[in-house]
Amino acid sequence: MTDRLQLFAGNSNPALAGRISEYLDIPVSQATVDRFPDGEVRIKVEDDVRGSDAFLLQSVCHPVNENLVELLIFIDCLKRASADRITPVIPYFGYARQDRKDEGRVPISAKLVADLITAAGADRVLTIDLHSTQIQGFFNIPVDHLLGSPVLVNHYQNMNIEDLVVVAPDVGKSLLVSTYARKMGAAFAIVDQRRVSAETAEVLAVVGEVEGMNILILDDIISTAGKLAQAVKVLKERGARDIYVAATHPVLAGNAAERILSAPIKKVAVTDTIPVRDERLKDKVEVVSVGELLGEAIRRIHENLSVSSLFD
Ligand code: R5P
Repeated sequence: MTDRLQLFAGNSNPALAGRISEYLDIPVSQATVDRFPDGEVRIKVEDDVRGSDAFLLQSVCHPVNENLVELLIFIDCLKRASADRITPVIPYFGYARQDRKDEGRVPISAKLVADLITAAGADRVLTIDLHSTQIQGFFNIPVDHLLGSPVLVNHYQNMNIEDLVVVAPDVGKSLLVSTYARKMGAAFAIVDQRRVSAETAEVLAVVGEVEGMNILILDDIISTAGKLAQAVKVLKERGARDIYVAATHPVLAGNAAERILSAPIKKVAVTDTIPVRDERLKDKVEVVSVGELLGEAIRRIHENLSVSSLFD
């Protein structure tokens, strides 16, 4: 592999691009990423990339379709400029929640997006907390899949919260969340929820002891915060004390900000896979950076070193 490492970034998350560039001690390479008068994405890479090991940071977050097309066209641009290897770094992989055909006449968008990224010219992919780990198999190129939860769990572990129960907000997360509960030496509980619509969920049961305990709810995504608000409500009804939340991807769509602000939650910790732009949330939502994690993963991929040691 070429010695020349380059970092590029689309428009989705310039602050995270800056943190990674700082960690790697290389600049974000120059590129124009804007629009033609009719709205089509226009990209021009200003630095020479011939023969380089190019990493391209772009989250598929709001505005999702704009950012996705930027990602695809940027990859094409790097390919045609003769980069030796192209690795999109996709901290938040959008469209991941449509990952199976669980009813008739629905698409599997996660597979389509994986195909598009590959067809555009990606050689490998680096991402964090895919909604489901089997999405890695939708790619026929290597995927380095990092975990965001350890960064968030460390954040709360440093707070030494006593009488802690780590809670999975639905049954699907129970295996992962119970692992973190064990690591933190905390108890574990599940709020069993069923999604009623894209914005709302209903609680079927709470499994585990929460009365008089402090709670940490761990999830991968906060989108509309519907599930989170329901979980908090039922946990409070069951006598929980302080409630903390950790989620890797702050999608924060629809009424999420209002729901978070009005719920009896002490703190929400999220990562910067997606920028949090709503100023109203700044006192309640703490952002923990994955910049170093991604920077170190990029360095290791570039130097052909193990990435799995970053999972600890
Ligand atoms: C679903 O399985 C995800 O892991 C999240 O729990 C979900 O996307 C959160 O959605 P919302 O915030 O809209 O309830």
